[in-house]
Amino acid sequence: MINMLSYIFLSSFALYCFVSCSAADIKNISTDKSSLLAFKSLITSDPHGMLANNWSTSSSVCNWVGVTCDNKHNRVHSLNLGSMGLRGTLSPNLGNLSFLVILDLSNNRFGGMFPNEVCRLRRLKVLDFGFNGFVGEIPMALGELSQLQQLNLSINHFSGFIPPSLCNLSKLEFFNFGKNSLEGTIPPVIGQLGRLKLLILSYNKLSGFIPKEISNISSLQGLFVGSNYFSGPIPEEIGYLDQLEYLILAYNNFSGSIPSNFLNISSLTNLQIEHNSLSASIFNFSNLVQLDLSENAFSGTFPNIAFANLRYLKYLELSSNHILSNLPKSIGNMTSVTFMVDFCGIDGNIPLEIGNMSNLISLSMVGNNINGPIPGTFKGLQKLQRLELSNNGLHGSFIDELCEMRSLIDLYLYNTTLSGVLPTCLGNMTFLEHLDLGYNNLNSKIPSSLWSLTDILEINLTNNAFTGNLPLEIGNLRAIVLLDISRNLISGNIPTTITFLKTMENISLAHNNLQGSIPSSLGDMVGLISLDLSQNMLTGVIPKSLTSLLYLQNINFSYNSLQGEIPDGGLFKTLTAQSFIHNEALCGNPRLQVPLCAKQVRKISRKKKLLLKCTIPLVLLTIFVIACIILIKHKRKKVENNLEKGLSTLGGQRRISYYELVQATNGFNEGNLLGKGGFGSVYQGKLLDGEMIAVKVIDLQSEEKSKSFDAECNSMRNLRHRNLVKIISSCSNLDFKSLVMEFMSNGSVDKWLYSDNYCLNFLQRLNIMIDVASALEYLHHGSSIPVVHCDLKPTNVLLDENMVAHVSDFGIAKLMDEGQSKTHTNTLATIGYLAPEYGSEGIVSVKGDVYSYGIMLMEIFTRRKPTDDMFVGDLSLKTWIGESLSGLILEVLDSNLVQQNGEQMDNILTHMSSIFGLALNCCEHSPAARINMADVKATLIKLKTLIFGRSAT
Ligand SMILES: *[C@@H]1O[C@H](CO)[C@@H](O)[C@H](O)[C@H]1NC(C)=O
Ligand SMILES: *[C@@H]1O[C@H](CO)[C@@H](O)[C@H](O)[C@H]1NC(C)=O
Ligand SMILES: *[C@@H]1O[C@H](CO)[C@@H](O)[C@H](O)[C@H]1NC(C)=O
Ligand SMILES: *[C@@H]1O[C@H](CO)[C@@H](O)[C@H](O)[C@H]1NC(C)=O
Ligand SMILES: *[C@@H]1O[C@H](CO)[C@@H](O)[C@H](O)[C@H]1NC(C)=O
Repeated sequence: MINMLSYIFLSSFALYCFVSCSAADIKNISTDKSSLLAFKSLITSDPHGMLANNWSTSSSVCNWVGVTCDNKHNRVHSLNLGSMGLRGTLSPNLGNLSFLVILDLSNNRFGGMFPNEVCRLRRLKVLDFGFNGFVGEIPMALGELSQLQQLNLSINHFSGFIPPSLCNLSKLEFFNFGKNSLEGTIPPVIGQLGRLKLLILSYNKLSGFIPKEISNISSLQGLFVGSNYFSGPIPEEIGYLDQLEYLILAYNNFSGSIPSNFLNISSLTNLQIEHNSLSASIFNFSNLVQLDLSENAFSGTFPNIAFANLRYLKYLELSSNHILSNLPKSIGNMTSVTFMVDFCGIDGNIPLEIGNMSNLISLSMVGNNINGPIPGTFKGLQKLQRLELSNNGLHGSFIDELCEMRSLIDLYLYNTTLSGVLPTCLGNMTFLEHLDLGYNNLNSKIPSSLWSLTDILEINLTNNAFTGNLPLEIGNLRAIVLLDISRNLISGNIPTTITFLKTMENISLAHNNLQGSIPSSLGDMVGLISLDLSQNMLTGVIPKSLTSLLYLQNINFSYNSLQGEIPDGGLFKTLTAQSFIHNEALCGNPRLQVPLCAKQVRKISRKKKLLLKCTIPLVLLTIFVIACIILIKHKRKKVENNLEKGLSTLGGQRRISYYELVQATNGFNEGNLLGKGGFGSVYQGKLLDGEMIAVKVIDLQSEEKSKSFDAECNSMRNLRHRNLVKIISSCSNLDFKSLVMEFMSNGSVDKWLYSDNYCLNFLQRLNIMIDVASALEYLHHGSSIPVVHCDLKPTNVLLDENMVAHVSDFGIAKLMDEGQSKTHTNTLATIGYLAPEYGSEGIVSVKGDVYSYGIMLMEIFTRRKPTDDMFVGDLSLKTWIGESLSGLILEVLDSNLVQQNGEQMDNILTHMSSIFGLALNCCEHSPAARINMADVKATLIKLKTLIFGRSAT
């Protein structure tokens, strides 16, 4: 009986097994093909036609774009369709690709739910759905993918909880759910993911405590949980994670203190805990590169931070904490690039040692109680680009040494009790763009050298005691956008040259002793938005030309001695009496509480007389002629207005009209076309003054592109570096958008590398890569907001007449705020140069550029694109280079180099492995493991000296 039962049981089991096992056996490469065709059938948009023609029934599935087969089983092994702009939903048939190991659909526009069937792919090691539009919950069954090593679902709209079943993914190394809408807590079972290196949960709605079980993941290198609703204390167990490099807890509500055993995490390089409610103060982390403690409740004294110990620190922000003390002398031993201590209640003097912080690029100490003079040692800060000391009690004068900071771009010394003379040496600060000296007691003349700073954008000198006249030279400020000299003791006339300032948007000369009349050509300042001339002693009439200004929003002529008619047109129709009160004898529209003008009274009575005297036919004729003239004039004006109105330019840049662009490019002639890219076409042009320009006309087919244009303008606006392509202007209206850039006469590195007509020698290639590294270093570390390029490749690196490289095309750069990404433009970064984790956020994205740089570094010396036909299956540019390091470097080098450098070749070969080693360092799979651009640059410069001797550098 028992036997019988067991027989029945066993046989039905066998039957079951037979059915299901043979069902699996039925699958073969044909199944894979039909599964992929089903997958293709749900793709609604394939903008680059990647699959449309290539995935055809007549060709073998193993030859399809993005598909790789494994030879042993003759089944589809990987599906790599990242960054192809695909749109649609996922077919459940994907679940039939039973030998699939890699599934990468990242950076597309797939939407809909995560198909449960994908969880049947038990061989899957890499699952990357990052940067798409998936919705709904993350399926529990995902936990069944027991071979999974990389899981990226970041930047989607997934909601619900983190499924605890994921704890079964015991081989997982990379876990990225950043930027979704996940709720609930982190399940403590996460501690079972014993091989995890990176855990990214930033930008969700997760809450509760961080489970202490996280400390069981001893291999963890990066924990990113910023921008959620986590609370409670930071578990001190995290201190046991002795491989941790990145700890990003910013923008949550953590309280309590930083556990003291964190000091033991010697691997920690980046600690971002800004914007929490943390208190207590221990900061002696010796290996940190980046430390952001801003907006917390830390208190204590500065000496608690042993600055001298922070040897590697590059970025320090302590703003908005209650750290009450002096700045210690030991800050002079820091190598930081960024030092921000706004609103920290610091008092005492600025120590002389500050001048030793020679790496500083950005220094900000706004809103403290710092007193005493500005130390002359500031002149040691030769790399400083931004200095903000506003709202402090500094004393003394604007010392000459400040002018010796030759890299300075932004200088904010607003409300710092400075007095005395504003020195002439100001004219030496030729990079200056923003100068704010408002609310001080400066009482000299404005030095005439100020008017020679032709690239300056904003000057604000309000509330001082400046004397003297405004000179004619004011007309030299060809880039100026804002000029505020209000509340001073300036006398004399308004110079007529002021009307040359065509870029000016905002000008205030209010509360001075200006005399004479208002220049009648003020209407030439076509960009003017706000004009304040109130509280002076101006006489004469208000120029009628002002009525033609299209952008004007704000005008103030009150408290002067003006007379005559207030013009009636343009903005004037909407002004109130407030803009005109207290003048001598203004007249006009009674709405403005002024009397009617005598002329208007006379005109009315004269018209009556005329009508009486003239014969009727004459009147008719006159009316007809006048009507015709008016009609023609009106029509022309309307066309001009429409064109003008639509064209707006970025503040602070030279205004170049659409007409000028048409003229410069011979009407966007084919012959002027330099190239076409993802964003449109680039034309070469020549302005009337002879200046060569490159005009990038943005293709306006989709709204996305229009948006990315704005992102591009914004990010380029304040970026200036020797190795970045300079933006001269931009021109945009509803259906035309363009960027006007410096013209690079030698074209792109890509052209030089792949055309048979050109050849770059070894030193040129090395110099180009040093230039590119400098540009990226500036973008990543040069300001408090790191800028990510996102699409670095040889076509985006241009060469000027001296073969100096300039990085161009920030169209898809993301502007990042405080190490966290802010905007996510849907981008078309380029296959081959894309970091594997592309789409994740924060620091990881800066590291994405490093990856692209590494690829380009390999490419430039091998003359092989990462997309070269030779790279199939497991062989990639990266692995090829990796293998070459064991002795075959000569075989991977560009053969042109080998010919060119016959005698130097040995020397080059000796160091080539270091260069490729560096490139591989840039391309480490884990973003955390990648080197930073400052170190890349330093290494390359060192290698250059080793190869060519000092003379080359
Ligand atoms: C795949 O299997 C089907 C039957 O399940 C068979 O008809 C077909 O010939 C097989 N194809 C290949 C390429 O083996
Ligand atoms: C700073 O460095 C100098 C020279 O290296 C050293 O003498 C000094 O003690 C250091 N200062 C502090 C506070 O550690
Ligand atoms: C000037 O700075 C002090 C702090 O030093 C602050 O209290 C005051 O409000 C500031 N004044 C202005 C006009 O901003
Ligand atoms: C400004 O530059 C001029 C010429 O380059 C130089 O002679 C002068 O000393 C500089 N002034 C200051 C204060 O650095
Ligand atoms: C100049 O600076 C002061 C103080 O920051 C500010 O109130 C004023 O608006 C600025 N001027 C203009 C024209 O923006």
